[in-house]
Amino acid sequence: MEIKVTPAGPGCSKEKPKDESTLGFGDILSDHMFLMDYEVGKGWYHPRIEPYHDLAINPAAMALHYGQEIFEGLKAYYGADDEIYLFRPRDNFERLNHSARRICMPEVDVDLVMEGMKKLILLDKDWVPKSQGTSLYIRPTMLATEPHLGVRPARGYLFFIIVGPVGAYYKEGLNPIRIFVEDKYVRAAVGGTGETKTAGNYAASLLAAEEAKEKGFTQVLWLDAAERKYIEEVGTMNMFFVLGDEVITAPLNGSILPGITRDSVIRIVKDWGLKMTERSLSIDELIEAVTNGSLQEAFGTGTAAVISPVGQIAYKGEDYVVAGGKMGKLSQRLYNEIVGIQYAEKEDAYGWRERIT
Ligand code: COI
Repeated sequence: MEIKVTPAGPGCSKEKPKDESTLGFGDILSDHMFLMDYEVGKGWYHPRIEPYHDLAINPAAMALHYGQEIFEGLKAYYGADDEIYLFRPRDNFERLNHSARRICMPEVDVDLVMEGMKKLILLDKDWVPKSQGTSLYIRPTMLATEPHLGVRPARGYLFFIIVGPVGAYYKEGLNPIRIFVEDKYVRAAVGGTGETKTAGNYAASLLAAEEAKEKGFTQVLWLDAAERKYIEEVGTMNMFFVLGDEVITAPLNGSILPGITRDSVIRIVKDWGLKMTERSLSIDELIEAVTNGSLQEAFGTGTAAVISPVGQIAYKGEDYVVAGGKMGKLSQRLYNEIVGIQYAEKEDAYGWRERIT
């Protein structure tokens, strides 16, 4: 399918950030966007790149009422060699299709959206920031547009991709964050939608995150919905612990998001010859390990922050310091390795990097 490109007219470019060192996350968006439409019986049609614009949505559009909305997040990087790279981009679209199946939305053609995304980034190439730690965040999104108020899967959808320059996701950057163990609210239950990137999962997480912030924490540590016993995720990230000589992360049991950074960490840790285990870790085992000194490190992983070290954990009114409140050795080594691959500073033995220039 041909992708029609309508560039923004001369003089219609938005102002680009002047100082990349002050870039935050998610406020600045580029000049163009990719879009395509879907109708049952017709499939996806009219793939196009247009100047960035507001969407006209019918107030009865089903996404607005019943939450058929899924998204992805990935990044483009200016490499050390001045070329632009993506990191495991097809995995994001495969995951988007997994999310789509779960909430009865249509799958996309991965080759077509990859082509649209690359064309969009190349058109908005000047928006890819160059300073260390910055990148172009890419947000593919799909939503139900059919105007209808009965509860059933919609028959019409919009898919779009928007992009914008970003810096660190957390203001702490690589400084360890303080987390609050959440034993009242839950993020997702097995059998629900926790393993997909649907908007509703994030809505469900907001109140706990706000309450934790009011208490002075950066994020919450989620426990499982059934027993409030096993550790699931941290904020919007997957969670890893180093206990003695074992690196542990929660298994993909249905409520955990299959993070692409999570998968990258697992593969690298295994290749480094360390003991990597995907198993359930209870909050009691964790507290015991912090208390007896066997917990070496704790960190979150995600596209936005890459590796986010945890320096303090609060549970049932007690504060526990992790790794002396500093970034641990393995967290730092993993960060350097992944970021090194992303920015083409290190050899990419896994074939994760995709050059687009
Ligand atoms: C990530 O860690 O990449 C996320 O999922 C955060 C994103 C929703 C902003």
